[in-house]
Order: sequence, then C-alpha cells, then structure tokens
Amino acid sequence: QKDLKTDYIGHEIHYFNEVDSTNNVAKELAKDGAVEGTIVIAESQSMGRGRRGKKWISPEGGIWMSIILRPKINPAKAPQLTLVTGVAVAETLKNECGLDVGIKWPNDILVGEKKVCGILTEAQATTKKVEYLIVGIGIDLNVDVKLFPPKLREGATSLKNELEKEIHSAELIQKFLLNFENRYNEFKEDKFPEILKQWRMFSKTIGSYVEVHKRGRTVKGEAVGINKDGILILELEDGSLEKVVSGECIHVKK
Ligand code: BTN
Repeated sequence: QKDLKTDYIGHEIHYFNEVDSTNNVAKELAKDGAVEGTIVIAESQSMGRGRRGKKWISPEGGIWMSIILRPKINPAKAPQLTLVTGVAVAETLKNECGLDVGIKWPNDILVGEKKVCGILTEAQATTKKVEYLIVGIGIDLNVDVKLFPPKLREGATSLKNELEKEIHSAELIQKFLLNFENRYNEFKEDKFPEILKQWRMFSKTIGSYVEVHKRGRTVKGEAVGINKDGILILELEDGSLEKVVSGECIHVKK
C-alpha cells in the first residue's frame, strides 16, 4: 500500500479471501456511508456477477475489485463511467504489460480478439441524484482460462495466458488505481470528451459490423461512431442511424 500514489482512490481498502461478489460487499459498505474511493478486493468470488445476469468465474489469481464512488452528477451520465473505467484499464494493460489492448463497446477489454477484463457498474440513484456508484472490475490475471467451462472459455483469455508468465497483482492494481483516479477526476471536471478520444483510439467496435441485443430486440449495422455522451451510433442496412445506449454487442463479419 505504501506504493499507492493516489490522492483518495484506494485509501480505504477492504480485503477478503472470499466473498460472494465484491460489488455486493461494496454496496453494503456504501449504504453504511463508506467514503468515495473505498475499494473492496477479494482473492476469489463464489458468486461473481457479470452483466445481464451472467455468472462471472472468479478463481484465485484474478483481480476482483469494486470501487465506491459518489460523484455529483446527473444520473443519466452514470453509464459514461463504464467507458472512463475501460480507458483506465486499457491504458494500464497497454503500458504495464505492453499488450495489444482494445475495447469492445461498451466495456469489454480485449487482448487481440479475446476478452481479458469486464466491468460492471451499478448505481443507487434517483432521477435527480446519484447516491453512490459501484464500479466492479474483473481482470483475468494469473488464471488459466483453459480451466473455465467450455462456454466461458470461448473468446476469453488471461494475462498469464497471453504473456506466459505471472504478473505481480498488487503492482498492477496500484498502477490501475492511479490511472483510474486521473481519468475519474477528468470525468468530474467535465472532460469526458477528452476521455472519449482515448476510448476511440482503443475501440475495436467503431468501424466494424455488429449485432446489438437490447431488450429482446436485435439491431444490426455498422458501428460508425460514438457520440459525445458515449452512445454508440449504428448505421443500419437501410442507411438510417440508430443510437444504442446499452446492450450486448457482438462483432460479426458482414
Ligand atoms: C462483464 O463483462 O460481464 C462484467 C464482469 C464484471 C466482473 C467484476 S469482478 C468484481 C466485481 N464483482 C462482481 O461480482 N462482478 C464484478
């Protein structure tokens, strides 16, 4: 912890051997008034959660972490924080591990074509005010995805699998928290457009042909861009444009 160079992110750390989900623990702490920047880290999770109710496999060796935030923002902007976090993870993996890192909209961090990290942002908010946000980050670090069940192994990789060596987890976490704090401060200072520039540089989605599943409906088209609010713009086959705020995005060949 002495090497942590942040001003407030990670100054309060709750560390566990095993929890059900670090997002659940963080939520309880947030309800009890935990300060902004408090983090929860676990060696393993028995009920790690992914987006859209999916299970997230969380064995020992990975980074399973949640950050409690209390930004004074319009709740409509909460999804932008996922993109902010994605940029912080991507720059950390690129700079510290020298990997070809990309981002699949909205928040999958890829090495090559395979997913190495997922982000799950959960908010407690009214239409007017955010009470707290929990940003959950799962990085497949020193794990072997070959041991995952077949369905989850597909399209997944880990840093150990890519680099063929183990990485020092505490060091990577410290570097990430510093990058995260810098990006998050920018976000609070209304510099989201700057972060989006970075996001676009990492994006593997823009320019590719995608299928987005949203609320029982599938839209197909070319991802032509992301607007100033972080919303994905698709050009459909008939040439019309469609905005997608959230959903599951699958890259497909045309
Ligand atoms: C996804 O890509 O579907 C999001 C995965 C998010 C996983 C992390 S691990 C730490 C935190 N606790 C959870 O239960 N989920 C997130």
